Amino acid sequence: MSDRVRITDVAPRDGLQNEPGRVPTEGKAELVRALAATGAAEIEVSSFVSPKWIPQLGDAAELFGMLAQDKPESVQFSALVPNAKGMERLAEVNQNAGGKLIDKASVFAAASETFSQKNTNATIDETLERFEPVIEMARSHDLAVRGYISCVVACPYEGPIEPEPVATLAQRLVDLGCDEIDLGDTIGEGTPETIAEMLLAVIEQLGGRRENDRGEPLITLHLHDTFGRAADCVVEALNLGVRSFDGSAGGLGGCPFASTPGKRAPGNIATPLLVRIIENEGFKTGVNEAKMAHASAIAERLVAGARAMESAE
Ligand code: HMG
Ligand code: MG
Repeated sequence: MSDRVRITDVAPRDGLQNEPGRVPTEGKAELVRALAATGAAEIEVSSFVSPKWIPQLGDAAELFGMLAQDKPESVQFSALVPNAKGMERLAEVNQNAGGKLIDKASVFAAASETFSQKNTNATIDETLERFEPVIEMARSHDLAVRGYISCVVACPYEGPIEPEPVATLAQRLVDLGCDEIDLGDTIGEGTPETIAEMLLAVIEQLGGRRENDRGEPLITLHLHDTFGRAADCVVEALNLGVRSFDGSAGGLGGCPFASTPGKRAPGNIATPLLVRIIENEGFKTGVNEAKMAHASAIAERLVAGARAMESAE
């Protein structure tokens, strides 16, 4: 099995969507440029979701416009898309850039009905119906499609989630045309045991396939790190053959709709930590540690600035 592990940095999206303060678009562009120089394979740059729901990322088109000239060929850009309207906005960005500035559209569902309602104002079935035109349009533009599943081991509202509904949903997303499945431990409740149980169920459901038709990993693990267990979960996932992980520069992140009263949604596993664990296990990520540390410092500065502005207002 390959010793190469794909790293996607989601700081500009997951990292900044949960910050109450405003991060200037130019600051976000600086972060994406720094991440693009690290050697990370993919950067999740923003979301084409409703700006009423996530005002922090309402500048997605403007941000991509700033990045149009600076994208290294080795890096892929992706963005979250919840529905046809979001996909039209994404397609317009690529059209304005005169090519595939955005390589991948990421749809997102959840293994918990309550979280699905809170996050997207729709049931799981309704969410999947919304994805049909999104995936059709993405395919017609030759874009890859990532299908996220949130709450793969626990939901902030419903508690523990069994592996079976996660595996069933993964299969439905693949059947709809998703090229890859990204398994999100949204609130960082996973342990090596529960993550392994869930991964084994998904891998079995997908017939043991590790790669998609594009030769890319079929399964990605997206860990939030609430209790410091994410590192052990990464090692467990590597042992089970997972070769793609999401991290966030500076360990930022969290879904606002996973926050409950008195409990703010936790950040993603920090990418520098993620890279170190994976390389210590003998795999290659292609990420330069010093450059990732630099990008993380930018992420932390942007968030500190936004928080300072917020508390001054
Ligand atoms: P809704 O309010 O039910 O949408 O939201 P609607 O279809 O009824 O439309 C209402 C209005 O929103 C209309 O405008 C639409 O045009 C507009 P109006 O007529 O009132 O002026 N609208 C849009 N505008 C811009 N872009 C769009 C769009 N869609 C509708 N795409 C919707 C439904 C899904 C849009 C909303 O619930 C939404 O945007 N949710 C996104 C929430 C979100 O981004 N959550 C965080 C990301 S998921 C996550 O963090 C988890 C993850 O990290 C993995 C893990 O950790 O588990 C991925
Ligand atoms: Mg997340």
